[in-house]
Amino acid sequence: MSTRPDNFTIVLFGAGGDLAARKLYPSIYQLFRWGHMPEAWRLIGVGRAGHDHQGFRKYVFDRVMELSPDAVDDRQHFEQFCERLFYVNAVLDQPEGYAALREEIRSSRGESGVCSNILFYLSTPPSLAPAIVGNLARAGLGGRSLDCTGWRKIVVEKPFGNDLSSSRELNRLLEEAFDERQIYRIDHYLGKEPVQNIMVFRFSNGMFEPLWNRQYIAQVQVTIAEEFGIRGRGAYYEEAGLLRDIVQNHGLQLLAAVAMEPPVALDPDAIRDEKAKVLRSIRLFDRDTAGQMAVLGQYEGYREERGVAPDSNVETFASLKFMVDNWRWSGVPFYMKAGKSLGRTVTEIVITFRCPPQNFYGERGAAACTPNQVILGIQPDETVAIRFGTKRPGEELVTDPVFMKFDYRESFAERGLTPYHRLLLDAMEGNQMNFIRRDSLERSWEIVDSIREALSGTLPEPYPQHSWGPDSAQRVYEG
Ligand code: BG6
Repeated sequence: MSTRPDNFTIVLFGAGGDLAARKLYPSIYQLFRWGHMPEAWRLIGVGRAGHDHQGFRKYVFDRVMELSPDAVDDRQHFEQFCERLFYVNAVLDQPEGYAALREEIRSSRGESGVCSNILFYLSTPPSLAPAIVGNLARAGLGGRSLDCTGWRKIVVEKPFGNDLSSSRELNRLLEEAFDERQIYRIDHYLGKEPVQNIMVFRFSNGMFEPLWNRQYIAQVQVTIAEEFGIRGRGAYYEEAGLLRDIVQNHGLQLLAAVAMEPPVALDPDAIRDEKAKVLRSIRLFDRDTAGQMAVLGQYEGYREERGVAPDSNVETFASLKFMVDNWRWSGVPFYMKAGKSLGRTVTEIVITFRCPPQNFYGERGAAACTPNQVILGIQPDETVAIRFGTKRPGEELVTDPVFMKFDYRESFAERGLTPYHRLLLDAMEGNQMNFIRRDSLERSWEIVDSIREALSGTLPEPYPQHSWGPDSAQRVYEG
């Protein structure tokens, strides 16, 4: 593990939110417990809950004990963690509270406090982000207004905008206050161990990459399925829908990792250059072909969820066919199926190879082969499996498909870091490799906007809960 980061202050907007309680506090506590936090660090929560410092500490203590008790293996140590928490009351979209924030930052070390290292973390609804960034800049806390030595970073949670134009506007505002090098757009999928392994699997092994192209690969299937519904996030889902919630970020990032070219070096921009290039090669959707390339669905019962309109047409499922128009992938379909309330929770990528030119070993009279596959299990199984044909024992000369499988949990004793541990550490240390760069972000929105536009006026098709989506989802495989 790397060296400890510099001393710094985390300023957390959305300190009373669900993500903070479920993921951020437990992860920061564990990093502290494991010795990854610097000597002098503290966290200032900002919000309008009316807490004083003590009240905020109690709030965090109680929430973490309620939601993530397993994260706390030493109560005394957890209390020491809570001692590092502070609170500033502010209405986030109004400028007044930001003077108090500045004062709180200053108070720890006098004037030099404002010059110290600060990591802003926006765990807030997207509609608040522009106001927060503007208010930080006006209060002299932005990254560009710094005329002293400390660093400034800003981590922004998804959804980053709502479409291409709102994300551009947010980027414009962010860049008025911060430089791109200070901006960390987070997609927690990129912190998952098996997602990081996609590139390692491809580029550290000599045997797969020569086959990783249109000559040998027939199709790629990305699945992000969840057996649960929207889990009480009705209001958010009504604004977002599945395309914005999953496809725009997690889905397209998985696709980019599978399809990207080898980077020229293992540095953040070299890697992000290649991802941006793949996203640029993805064909935009249009009205003429959308019927064969995209099917949206909505699970039965969605309209009865809390916070959902009784006549809502928001999608909770998508089955999509992407075409990547470049030399490596021309003509190879990349299917993506993602949805809520599906048969089971599974994220995986299946790469299916072409059949050999002649098939001697099929069942008698059968022409089709069972193609080779590489199956990258992201969750719940963290696996890599290879499917190949092998001779079925017995008289006949026919093959059966079998699997060779690697499982992270069986092969390695140590458990990897969770996405939030890893990405928080990366942000503290200034490593942007697993954060989304502006160009990729905007292109992903352009792709998703094109799907939404091409399908505008088409209603999502209902599907029973715990099924695999509407029957018509098959359509994209047939076109
Ligand atoms: C979030 C989405 O980004 O990712 C959720 O908003 C989704 O709708 C979640 O359930 C999935 O993340 P994970 O890591 O639990 O698979």
